[in-house]
Amino acid sequence: MASTLSKQKARPMLGKKDFLALGDLSSTDIMALLDEAVRLKKQTKLGIQEPHLQGKVLGMIFEKASTRTRVSFEVGMLQLGGQAIFLSSNDIQLGRGESTIDTAKVLSRYVDGLMIRTFSHDMMETYAKHASIPVINGLTDLHHPTQVLADLLTIYEHKGKFKGLKLAYIGDGNNNMCHSLMEGAVKVGMDIHVACPPGYGPNPGIFQQMTHEAKENGTTVECSQDPFEVMAGADIVVTDVWASMGQEDENEQRKKIFTPYQVNERLCQQAKADFTFLHCLPAHRGEEVTAGIIDGPHSVVFDEAENRLHAQKALLKLLLGE
Ligand code: CP
Ligand code: NVA
Repeated sequence: MASTLSKQKARPMLGKKDFLALGDLSSTDIMALLDEAVRLKKQTKLGIQEPHLQGKVLGMIFEKASTRTRVSFEVGMLQLGGQAIFLSSNDIQLGRGESTIDTAKVLSRYVDGLMIRTFSHDMMETYAKHASIPVINGLTDLHHPTQVLADLLTIYEHKGKFKGLKLAYIGDGNNNMCHSLMEGAVKVGMDIHVACPPGYGPNPGIFQQMTHEAKENGTTVECSQDPFEVMAGADIVVTDVWASMGQEDENEQRKKIFTPYQVNERLCQQAKADFTFLHCLPAHRGEEVTAGIIDGPHSVVFDEAENRLHAQKALLKLLLGE
């Protein structure tokens, strides 16, 4: 990405530097992070390592499963000269009832930053409030901001711009990916239109806030129950699982409700001829997306997965670096 995209250096975020939701960042912060991710990615491809985090340790608490988030943060810390410690909630005292507050305070005495994957976003905010070190949201039920940072990087690499693009999100609107995509899209100047079944719309507070911000910066945030209408003229098509982690009990019921929202060949005919397909993974082929789409020529899901590493290295450098 051309360094001219961010006219200014990222300003220090207020107070302790946490990364809980994209909505907390300015457009300038996000553009600067993306610029740095592009630069670090180039350096890595050239075999040049930059040990900005030598001697630094990231603690990683996981209360839910993970492949990409765990591995990309761990490798990112290693490539930056630091180290990461994987802390499964099943293996630490948290899983036996030790409080979030005590866990945050104790770990702050050992490590330089905490990456946490948990259930409620309130819990994430409690960690951030009581930790004296930077806290990074590695997914809550409400937000998945590190994934969307990688998604923005991927979109920029494949489209070369943000302004004027229409992103169609099809599926569960009351979903961490949908919320972070709404925040990320508005911040970088893309239109985002969401199609979801009745009763599965985005969090009203986030939707209202993003609609308001979109009006101010000349973009649009819309939500409809009609996937064909939302898909019309889309440059970017995104979906996510119909049942997120923690919703396994609703799996069968959701399959029935969400079937009309499958991203398949017929629906994608409404999108622009050169549309780009993203999915944060893991995916369920034959449910939210057909194999023909996710494994087809429009899909960039493995670039997207790789970009977790590069985007997060930029974030780690910003939050944990000197
Ligand atoms: N996309 C994502 O966050 O993947 P994991 O659940 O494997 O970390
Ligand atoms: N919405 C999904 C994202 C997984 C990375 C979930 O929360 O399970």
